[in-house]
Amino acid sequence: MPSGSARPAAASSAIPLDRRMFGALVEHMGRSVYSGIFEPDHPAADADGFRTDVLDLVRELGVTTIRYPGGNFVSAYRWEDGVGPVERRPARLDLAWHSLEPNQFGLDEFVRWTRRAGVEPMLALNLGTRGVAEALELLEYANHPGGSALSDLRIRNGAAEPHDIRLWCLGNELDGPWQVGHKTAAEYGRLAAETARAMRRFDPSLELVLSGSSGLAMPTFGAWETTILEVAGDLVDHISLHAYYEDDGDLRSFLASAVDLERFIERVAAIVDDVAERTGSRKRIGLSVDEWNVWYLSRLQAQPPSDGWPVAPRLSEDAYSAADAVVVGSLLIALLKHADRVRCACMAQLVNVIAPIRTEPGGRAWRQTTFYPFALTSANALGGSVVPVKLEASTVTTARYGDVPALDAVAALDATGAILSVFAVNRHELEEAQLDLDLREWPGATPHDATVLWDPDPRARNTEMAPRRVVPRPLAVGPLEDGRLRVALPPVSWAVVRLRV
Ligand code: AHR
Repeated sequence: MPSGSARPAAASSAIPLDRRMFGALVEHMGRSVYSGIFEPDHPAADADGFRTDVLDLVRELGVTTIRYPGGNFVSAYRWEDGVGPVERRPARLDLAWHSLEPNQFGLDEFVRWTRRAGVEPMLALNLGTRGVAEALELLEYANHPGGSALSDLRIRNGAAEPHDIRLWCLGNELDGPWQVGHKTAAEYGRLAAETARAMRRFDPSLELVLSGSSGLAMPTFGAWETTILEVAGDLVDHISLHAYYEDDGDLRSFLASAVDLERFIERVAAIVDDVAERTGSRKRIGLSVDEWNVWYLSRLQAQPPSDGWPVAPRLSEDAYSAADAVVVGSLLIALLKHADRVRCACMAQLVNVIAPIRTEPGGRAWRQTTFYPFALTSANALGGSVVPVKLEASTVTTARYGDVPALDAVAALDATGAILSVFAVNRHELEEAQLDLDLREWPGATPHDATVLWDPDPRARNTEMAPRRVVPRPLAVGPLEDGRLRVALPPVSWAVVRLRV
């Protein structure tokens, strides 16, 4: 039986948690936008065509930041197509997803939607087919108050106030040969540096994200980061990394996916430090894990190619299992454990496409299994701080990652400072685990409640007809004795134990 102890450090070791840790991606891909967040004919649509049933779920999810409009889509996107009178907007071929983009939803709708959802926009620039000039035009349109051609155009289009977008991604996954406008590190580094330099002439306080590797397994990983940081590091604030995982049948390795994410984060952080030291830079660049999730990419790749150019086809509408949700919970634990370096993270994506929220056109919206670990982590950590946990645990042997701890945990203080939540995962695929929660650094802590996400069938899913098949349930813990709390975690489970402190 797996077992271990988890000892949250004293409050004085808490690390402030950036709000942007709980971001997500809305890409013009599949039904993420059309019949996802935007469906004017839906009975629940508001006057702008935004689905209010989806907006309610987005708020409940506790998402803080939305990266838009891609993803791969952005690398051939013309932002001008998506503004102005909708009846005059052109339909364009989207080469990233072999779809027809009707441009009925664009920048101004997106910003209006973010205001309604209460989230911060994070805008990605097209550095695939475009460059400095178009980035500056978009910036002027979005952020200049008025009195110039493009800011006045925005005002005529109905947005009197500047959108004031603070966070900008300098392209997307340009290290990937699948990307329209794919570049070498030297080419991308130079373009990103020139774009950043020009954008800072408009507003030096913008926050800019350099596009790092699209996966730890990329053959250019490491060299890509080193080159682009040497050229552009002093001009940006963050460097991105993207990480996706899927269950290929080896459940044990899949459950250990967070080990890989941690290695990825630590290696990028080490490269950032190394380049800073060699170049004498005093800038402390943050990490933006601005695409992460469980993604059944192999299923998308196995899908027969579409023989036409459909509008909003069904792409990557992965139906997530209880095991997928446990992996999502453990990826969140990995992100929180690195809150000292990770400044921003976006689950990819938000609605329908590899998403915690699913919808049917004209029909229901429902929560996937992966909705719950995200919502519970955000609800208990957002606005608060991360408390490191000293973990000692037995190991499991995985084919993909070798021996890894069977348990993992991290803790967070909530925004009020009154609740300490311990997030824990049992990665064993068959056996219950005994976790000994050592609270000796927290005298006076008393158990508040505990919740577990688990199902006797790790492959159980939520569907439109059975949307509550897998939901979090109460977990019995305790009693608290000599500052220790015994917690039994079922196999393949993720849990949060909350204490009053
Ligand atoms: O989120 C799906 C895709 O994954 C994004 O478009 C791309 O950036 C990544 O490869």
